[in-house]
Amino acid sequence: MKIEDLFSVRDKVVVVTGGSRGIGEMIARAMVENGARVIITARNAAVCDGLAAELSKIGNCISIPADLSKMDEIERFATEVAARESRIDVLFNNAGASWGAPFDDFPEAGWDKVMDLNVKSIFFLTQRLIKLLEAAATPDDFAKVINIGSIDGQRVSEVETYSYAASKAAVLHLTRMMAKFLAGRHVAVNAIAPGFFPSKMTAGLMDMMSDEILGATPMRRMGNPTDMAGVALFLASRASGFLCGSTVTVDGGYKTTV
Ligand SMILES: NC(=O)c1ccc[n+]([C@@H]2O[C@H](COP(=O)([O-])OP(=O)(O)OC[C@H]3O[C@@H](n4cnc5c(N)ncnc54)[C@H](OP(=O)(O)O)[C@@H]3O)[C@@H](O)[C@H]2O)c1
Repeated sequence: MKIEDLFSVRDKVVVVTGGSRGIGEMIARAMVENGARVIITARNAAVCDGLAAELSKIGNCISIPADLSKMDEIERFATEVAARESRIDVLFNNAGASWGAPFDDFPEAGWDKVMDLNVKSIFFLTQRLIKLLEAAATPDDFAKVINIGSIDGQRVSEVETYSYAASKAAVLHLTRMMAKFLAGRHVAVNAIAPGFFPSKMTAGLMDMMSDEILGATPMRRMGNPTDMAGVALFLASRASGFLCGSTVTVDGGYKTTV
């Protein structure tokens, strides 16, 4: 198969949660630029609608704002997607949140907010969208679910983000569980574990310790949109056809050296 076909996402229906900024925007933009029909979602409707309008100038993108940390909102989002599309080829479960606090003061709110979005919403959104994923799937070209984990689920973080680190380890194991039980339905589940990419989430950490982080990264830089586009296109396309429950770490080597 030619490389243009192997890595193609042309005409695929792609959902990107947390697609309004940061890594989700990098993924959504890569999909739109390569001919996919993309649905992005996030809580802030103005920001989400604004990016969809911008991306619509270069391709096909719509915004369906929702708060995916709430079950009724997951339900509403899934219903609205089903009203517009008869299938989903690729679901990027990317929306995520973090919370940092010292051990003695760590609040329950910082536990529940992070776990509800980072772990629970991945499971229940995929459950609610499974029929649309199955509608896109064939035995030799599976539908794809791609969960965004983190290197913080693979090694111990430098900061006290207890619920976030636990949630990201959970994402990577949930990926393996879902991969095992959804493969028989021709849905492939894999994960990306990013290292440091510029975003609202990492801005504070980079202000505090960019020298340490870049100094400990063998490639001496943060990730950029092209780095994320490459792995997202690989996992969304036939090029990743025999990956099932895998995690692709994209971190410039950081995890292996700390
Ligand atoms: N940046 C990195 O270096 C890095 C490294 C490892 C892993 N990650 C992971 O990559 C993913 C994206 O992170 P990011 O760095 O791009 O963060 P970000 O810039 O803070 O973006 C988070 C996205 O999720 C949306 N979101 C937040 N809460 C939501 C909710 N309750 N319901 C629906 N959408 C929600 C945000 O929009 P609204 O606020 O409008 O809802 C936004 O679109 C996360 O899972 C994160 O853990 C990032």
